[in-house]
Amino acid sequence: MKPVVLDCDPGHDDAFAILLAAAHPAIRLLAISTVAGNQTLAKTTLNARRVCTLAGITDVPIVSGQARPLVGPVELAADVHGESGLDGPNFGPPSVPVTSTDGVGYLRELLRGSPEPVTVVAVGPLTNIAALLLSTPDVGRHIAEIVIMGGSTERGNSTPYAEFNIYADPEAAAVVFGSGLPVVMCGLNVTHQALAGAKVRRRIAEVGGPLAGACLELLDFFGDTYQRLWGFPAPPVHDPVAVARVIDPGIVGCVPSRVDVELAGTHTRGATSVDLHRRTGLEPNALVATELDADRFWELMVDAIAVLTERGRAA
Ligand code: RIB
Ligand code: CA
Repeated sequence: MKPVVLDCDPGHDDAFAILLAAAHPAIRLLAISTVAGNQTLAKTTLNARRVCTLAGITDVPIVSGQARPLVGPVELAADVHGESGLDGPNFGPPSVPVTSTDGVGYLRELLRGSPEPVTVVAVGPLTNIAALLLSTPDVGRHIAEIVIMGGSTERGNSTPYAEFNIYADPEAAAVVFGSGLPVVMCGLNVTHQALAGAKVRRRIAEVGGPLAGACLELLDFFGDTYQRLWGFPAPPVHDPVAVARVIDPGIVGCVPSRVDVELAGTHTRGATSVDLHRRTGLEPNALVATELDADRFWELMVDAIAVLTERGRAA
């Protein structure tokens, strides 16, 4: 089992990342930290509690982190995830508490206290991770690798060339890519291969039960958004791709590449400049995912929903 912390901004696809990270036996999920992103910190934290309550994930501390980016304005994605940040299902009141409102401090102590280096999976803006790295010079030796959902080798989604997680806090992303730590980037170019189409929906429906039902309602809302905003035939479920890479590194094909974050571009702030063909002459600072084994990915994701459903029935 790999010790993992999951930093997220739930968010429809973050919800699936939480389910996969909590369910798969290859991962020991040490904590879920929340960050402002898809919605305000208060809403992303409430949503993490809602998902964990519904899924019966009661043994993973939820800690809330930074409410605003390192430098720029708060960028939300209500047009994508709705006013609640998790529109679609009707979640009951959460019973899972918030363990700490000092998420960065909590992660610092958790990492320092871990007997082995921890994998940090970050699927929202990188504000918490950057704040951790900037405030804790020794923390790098407690981190096995940082696996992010963010960026793109091609076009963006928040703007023509910037993907949301980077766009929402470009300075934080620059800190992570400049950290010298092992970074794996799962960008839109690969997460757009994780489409929840009719076959996937059928397999989730076959699991049955309230968790599968809520997953389908999340996909209904997310699918409507992606059809309306970007003309997608089915929603790309971005964030669990980063978790799947921790479970089964071979599920994504990666290329070592230099990645730089545009901070000053008039039209391109937040873009990830991915030097796939070594044109800059700069040494690679990341492994960049370029291919996804989508069948294997959905096998892991649907199995996670089934495992949590069975655990709930057995409880
Ligand atoms: O661009 C997609 C990313 O932004 C995903 O992590 C989604 O949850 C949003 O945070
Ligand atoms: Ca996210």
